[in-house]
Amino acid sequence: MARNKIALIGAGNIGGTLAHLIGLKELGDVVLFDVFGGVAAGKALDIMQSGPVDDFDSTMTGGSDYAAIKDADVVIITAGFPRTPGMSRDDLIGKNAGVIATVAEGIKANCPNAFVICITNPLDAMVWVLQQKSGLPANKVVGMAGVLDSARFRLFLAQEFGVSVEDVTAFVLGGHGDTMVPLTRYSTVAGIPVPDLIKMGWTTQEKIDAICTRTANGGGEIVKLLERGSAFYAPAASAIAMAEAYLKDKKRVLPCAAYLTGQYGINDLYVGVPVVIGAGGVEKIVEIELNATEKAAFDKSCGAVRELIEASRKLIG
Ligand code: APR
Repeated sequence: MARNKIALIGAGNIGGTLAHLIGLKELGDVVLFDVFGGVAAGKALDIMQSGPVDDFDSTMTGGSDYAAIKDADVVIITAGFPRTPGMSRDDLIGKNAGVIATVAEGIKANCPNAFVICITNPLDAMVWVLQQKSGLPANKVVGMAGVLDSARFRLFLAQEFGVSVEDVTAFVLGGHGDTMVPLTRYSTVAGIPVPDLIKMGWTTQEKIDAICTRTANGGGEIVKLLERGSAFYAPAASAIAMAEAYLKDKKRVLPCAAYLTGQYGINDLYVGVPVVIGAGGVEKIVEIELNATEKAAFDKSCGAVRELIEASRKLIG
């Protein structure tokens, strides 16, 4: 059986890390695309040269011709501009909406059957632009945000409790921005919900509130430290988990920016919700019960996303 073909649009910090992880995990062959074709080709060659050391055979190529992504099984998009200190994700909209519209055309023309994962920010609006402009079915176009946000949440909870990250599950809903909604009721240590852990004296509500705030500002904390550019290792790992769920038909339950058609009372919006990812792409949107406070926070987050989508609609025409 032929290897899977994975196209990476954008060969910057996240794109390079994605290619490296794909090699290490032997998920398939990689085509890196970037407006700077030399960067894409150089990274592809460099990573492929680590194959003999790390025991993988993935073929890696790079360039700036969309024809190379023909018939890709999976496309992961990081093309565009990252944040710099002082910028919010939303500030990127003017630059990145046009980039994503162009990328969507390239995908539509060359690999309309691919499973497409968008990482470019502002995430929820950019994945909406991507689906609109590519015309691909909404269950094959998703945004990576929730896996990253919940990974940050899991790490901070594990550190607070002094337990392995493996035993912590965490749940984050809503847009990939300051209004995201970390749900403590659905976050657990080995199945024990966080509110019960507070009752058991493992932590305090104040500490959990601080962790939720740190999670929501997780990307900004890294932008400030890096001074140039934004996080890339954890975002890449998160998108790979989504790609792997699709390629291996794992039916993983992952929080992703998915297209809502009435779920949670929301229509025509991409926003972070738990979904099942398998060979059919987004096979199911999981609708959990929210209490009044959680619903209000989720609706507020959806409102913020809707504003960005409306702004994008004007930008791309
Ligand atoms: N087509 C293809 N590639 C493009 C285009 C385009 N129209 N415009 C820019 N690029 C490329 C750049 O040349 C660069 O190599 O996208 C790459 C982006 O890489 P980085 O600047 O290193 O950014 P990165 O950290 O990878 O983040 C990319 O993901 O998390 C988000 O906010 C982040 O929107 C940003 C994106």
